[in-house]
Amino acid sequence: MQSAATAGGVRLRPHTKTHKSPLIARWQIDCGAVGICCAKLGEAEVFADAGFPDIRLPYPIHPSNADRVIALLDRTRLSFIVDHPAVAKQWSEAMRRAGREVDVLIKVDVGFHRCGIDPDSRDALSIIHGLAALPGLRLRGLLSHAGQTYHAQSDDELQTMARAEARTMSDLSERCRKMGVAIDEVSAGATPPARYALQQSAFTEYRPGNYVYFDRTQVALGAAAMNDCALSVLATVVSKPSRDRLILDSGSKTLTNDGARGFTPAPGFGAIVGFDNLLIERLSEEHATVKVAGTTPLEPGDRVRIVPNHSCVVSNLVDQAWIVDGGTVEPLPIAARGRIT
Ligand SMILES: Cc1ncc(COP(=O)(O)O)c(C=O)c1O
Repeated sequence: MQSAATAGGVRLRPHTKTHKSPLIARWQIDCGAVGICCAKLGEAEVFADAGFPDIRLPYPIHPSNADRVIALLDRTRLSFIVDHPAVAKQWSEAMRRAGREVDVLIKVDVGFHRCGIDPDSRDALSIIHGLAALPGLRLRGLLSHAGQTYHAQSDDELQTMARAEARTMSDLSERCRKMGVAIDEVSAGATPPARYALQQSAFTEYRPGNYVYFDRTQVALGAAAMNDCALSVLATVVSKPSRDRLILDSGSKTLTNDGARGFTPAPGFGAIVGFDNLLIERLSEEHATVKVAGTTPLEPGDRVRIVPNHSCVVSNLVDQAWIVDGGTVEPLPIAARGRIT
């Protein structure tokens, strides 16, 4: 991902939501990333404590957290998004009261319809103009997340979505500049369209998260091959009630209930590596029920590796993972796990 970003002349700022680990974030910085992203303030506090000097929150944090933001400004260069005039005004007042300034980017809705201003609405430019004028906020630019790419039905559709995002963001930047609002940064980021988005000249920054591990959904979206998936769950066969059924110790509290997405979503709750005839068809909290097509040599006590449907939510469920490198196995603390506020 770093090579593709460098080749495209785009600054890479990985989202740490997937690994929540200062160790892995350090590797990303060592490869050339300019900084990191976190979703929640609690995560940013962990990464600031670990010495990361530049942290961006592409998340609409609320001004009720102003004290924590102001404390963080002493420890790291923090930036976050705004997309609501009244909320931005409250941030401006909080910063003014504290005698501080903070970097913000305006979130733009590029089709996911989650957060962000509508770039086609009649008041988009007046909202941006108003936000740019607020004291205490330094407007750095615009930011988008094309989450709708997770629902693309084909590679063509994915490519079209990536181009549309780039067009929307460069058109809006241009309109801002024409009305005298400087747009220094145009930040986008999602793993599925990265291979197309990084070829667009519209973006100055890209913020992918999932690519660090990939998962079964990314494989089904053409973003990775199964062999690229770095995160797997080591599960134990705990029962074999019949020839065509196995029970594993990885239920929904381990694999999560997330289904796979993709052009042709794979069935079940993860891929059992090396066993194409096994389907994880049902999860209870502590049990995975596996349907066996034909026969299997697996017996209670045997272990299997499972590539999950969605690696970000799986890694968030454990305090520690293991880094396996050839014959070396080392602990990987997931230090920002559970920091959900
Ligand atoms: C705002 C924002 N930016 C970036 C990302 C990273 O996306 P991905 O994990 O697809 O790379 C996410 C993921 O949810 C996000 O919500």
